[in-house]
Amino acid sequence: MTPPRISRLYLRMALYIGAAIAGFVLLGLVSLVLVASRQLESYLQAREGALGQEAAQVLAEGGTTALRRWMTAPGTVPEGVALYVLDAEGRDLDGKTLPVSYRRFVQRFVLAAGDDAANFEPIRLAPLLIDADGSRYAFLLLPERIAPWGSAATVAVLLAAALIVIAVVAGLIAHTFGRPITELQFAVRALADGRIETRTPAAVSQRADELGVLARDVDAMATQIGRLLGSRQQLMRDMSHELRSPLARLQAALALADRKQALPAAEYARITMELERMNQAIGDVLRFTRLEAEPMRAKHLLRLGELLATLVADERDEAATRDLRLVLSADDRLDVVGDPQLLRSGLENVLRNAIRHAPTGSDVLLEASGDDTTLTVTVEDRGVGVPPEMLERIFEPYVRLATDANDNRGTGLGLAIARRVFEAHGGSITAENALPCGLRVRIRLPRAC
Ligand SMILES: Nc1ncnc2c1ncn2[C@@H]1O[C@H](COP(=O)(O)OP(=O)(O)OP(=O)(O)O)[C@@H](O)[C@H]1O
Ligand SMILES: [Mg+2]
Repeated sequence: MTPPRISRLYLRMALYIGAAIAGFVLLGLVSLVLVASRQLESYLQAREGALGQEAAQVLAEGGTTALRRWMTAPGTVPEGVALYVLDAEGRDLDGKTLPVSYRRFVQRFVLAAGDDAANFEPIRLAPLLIDADGSRYAFLLLPERIAPWGSAATVAVLLAAALIVIAVVAGLIAHTFGRPITELQFAVRALADGRIETRTPAAVSQRADELGVLARDVDAMATQIGRLLGSRQQLMRDMSHELRSPLARLQAALALADRKQALPAAEYARITMELERMNQAIGDVLRFTRLEAEPMRAKHLLRLGELLATLVADERDEAATRDLRLVLSADDRLDVVGDPQLLRSGLENVLRNAIRHAPTGSDVLLEASGDDTTLTVTVEDRGVGVPPEMLERIFEPYVRLATDANDNRGTGLGLAIARRVFEAHGGSITAENALPCGLRVRIRLPRAC
């Protein structure tokens, strides 16, 4: 599938970033209009108003002393504007300092101008004031300070507004990209955990952008994997079924041959054993595939201690052939709700593994305990254990350690079946290496109330 020509995510990103820039420009304009223009306005008003004429009049009537008093009186000059009256040397009557460049400019172009200049010509940048004795003064109004960002409070307000714009835009971006990505991540993790029926939420898969396309691809992939798994299960089930009947006929023929004493006893025993193993393997495949399709059939209230005791009693003979001791310690009243046959087969698979891997003459320990909500069963042997990187993988179907690959007594389904069984009961099964040696398998089941 070719990607869309203009990326929708790109368009959204561009939209949000554009909105952020527009927000900042707007803030700048508002600040300029509200702050700077007000400052400028009062300066311009003062310049264009009658202030110069008033100064000329004060000078004419009361001389420089009156002019100095007038110019320093509060309220004469509007706020934000500075008034300079400069004599021929460029000194301000009030003693205020003026930047040198301004002073030079005024001296050169105002105070030293031709004699025909009249007292106060408002058109000029710095009109002349001429005293009764003919001394010339330059009348100069300057803005005190143009600060487009205004006072510290204005800056704080602007910064706060900018932060709000950033927060809103970042929130939009997170909402657009963050949430759907997290939801996709959840769905992919669920799929990776084997919950193959998981699909991405409609809110993501119905989006028109690339994230929506990705979500639909993930869904399509999950459907395809589900279909493949389904057909694999079906194949296994059908094959096992098909193998069962010829196997049963073989067993019957063998029994007949034995009755006619047509086979030497050693060959008969060997063939019987191999057929039995085949039967067992086919049974495992059938059980496993059935568990995948329909996890739990019956629900009974069971005493875990009793279940373990019968299991141990049944396996004791097998254990005795290798001089193993099965040591069971179980608390009283460990009740669990479940399918007795399934639970038994799950526990049996774990115990049989322990018996198979325990060194001759050692102990295999079974412990069952419980707290308010959970029952825990541990099965521990003193064998060689499992390499750490395989502790999780041994629960996958057909995974066997290289050391057991030549041992044809197993199919590699025992722990996979056990995991299905305990998970179907709302529990779990994990393995860890015990100290100083051996494997400890831990089963957790919800306690019945
Ligand atoms: N107690 C144990 N000590 C050491 N390795 C173990 C133990 N239990 C299981 N394993 C390893 O995990 C592998 C998978 O175990 P699983 O029970 O699934 O299969 P299996 O025992 O080989 O065959 P099956 O149980 O189907 O007859 C085993 O082949 C073995 O290598
Ligand atoms: Mg096994």
